[in-house]
Amino acid sequence: MSGTSLDGIDAVLIGVEGGIPPTGWRQLAFTCVPFSPDDRARLHALMHPRVDLAALGTANMWLGERFAQAALEVIAQAGCRPEDIDAVASHGQTVWHQPPRAGQPGGTLQLGEPSVIAERTGILTVADFRPRDMAAGGQGAPLVPFADYLLFHSSVRSVAVQNIGGIANVTYLPQGAGIDQVLAFDTGPGNMVIDALVAHYSGGAESFDRDGRGAARGRVHAVLLEELLQHPYFAQSPPKSTGREEFGAAYAQTVLARCAAFGLSADDAIATVTALTAVSIVRAYQAYIAPIGAIDVLILGGGGSYNQALQAMLAERLPGVSIHQHEDAGISGAAKEAIAFALLGHATLCGVPSNVPSVTGARHPVVLGTIVPADPRRAIKFE
Ligand SMILES: Nc1ncnc2c1ncn2[C@@H]1O[C@H](COP(=O)(O)OP(=O)(O)O)[C@@H](O)[C@H]1O
Ligand SMILES: [Mg+2]
Repeated sequence: MSGTSLDGIDAVLIGVEGGIPPTGWRQLAFTCVPFSPDDRARLHALMHPRVDLAALGTANMWLGERFAQAALEVIAQAGCRPEDIDAVASHGQTVWHQPPRAGQPGGTLQLGEPSVIAERTGILTVADFRPRDMAAGGQGAPLVPFADYLLFHSSVRSVAVQNIGGIANVTYLPQGAGIDQVLAFDTGPGNMVIDALVAHYSGGAESFDRDGRGAARGRVHAVLLEELLQHPYFAQSPPKSTGREEFGAAYAQTVLARCAAFGLSADDAIATVTALTAVSIVRAYQAYIAPIGAIDVLILGGGGSYNQALQAMLAERLPGVSIHQHEDAGISGAAKEAIAFALLGHATLCGVPSNVPSVTGARHPVVLGTIVPADPRRAIKFE
């Protein structure tokens, strides 16, 4: 899995028992293979509506190699061989994601050619999870709620799982709810705008605000914050999803211009966009979750959950909510999205639908993904 932050490829090896829901699972190894600044620049160049087709085609193969390498690394780290592994599930790298809206057809494109992964590893590879949901009328996102449901639903408390990646997204699991009652949507930017501002003010020397130190030193500019919160995405009702198309480089440029107009220091600007993430999350809960039910427990995950300034801003605005990290539930927050796609791949191989229509807006449940067969020397023998 690589998300919108472009920090690196997350690879996890899990063992799963049983079908869906699994009777048990455990994490065997996890690694994040970082993208270099050059890799990141190459990926940024692809996320442009007028991208060069030759660049797109070759990047698909190049990313396939990188994802295959990440899979082989995590397998080796667990002390296993590729022959021991039943399947690879690969989300790939999203370069374009536009849900259908107002009569306009949507589109979604993940790179990291699964045939390359299958060829290099010899392992059956499940990939391209999003298009089938979109074909069924959904947004193709978010898909992680299926895993959130398997991992966190509870008969005694209502749980919200807040991932803070490049984009921030929440899954709300009402107490005792079935999967068809799950609510989930992207709340807006997670680290994406923070990362862009840190890169700008540090002249590219840093790519994120480690532990939220810059934001902690700065002061939130209340007027600019309110202005930024007027972005139309926040007022849109779920189902909704967003990405770099809305909160990427062009948006960061606009924000930087407004910070300059208000004369903000780098730390004040970083504090203000950190507050944009925190307040947009809290207001999304008030607008779209509170009418359905309370949040007893909030579980934070993704790289942004390590940003202490952001955590403090959330805690301050959510009195009475018990806030935890994935680690408190025995799950690595950094590995969580990769675990989610491993479980989605498992569902595909079980022939079980794994989109959540109440979340994506799809007309019906569908089995997600494309399957590239294993090396025939390893394929199941039918005799
Ligand atoms: N210690 C930390 N302090 C603050 N932010 C962090 C820290 N570690 C990671 N991050 C943020 O998390 C991002 C990566 O998060 P991740 O969950 O991998 O997002 P994505 O799914 O978009 O790739 C980094 O780009 C960075 O902004
Ligand atoms: Mg990442």
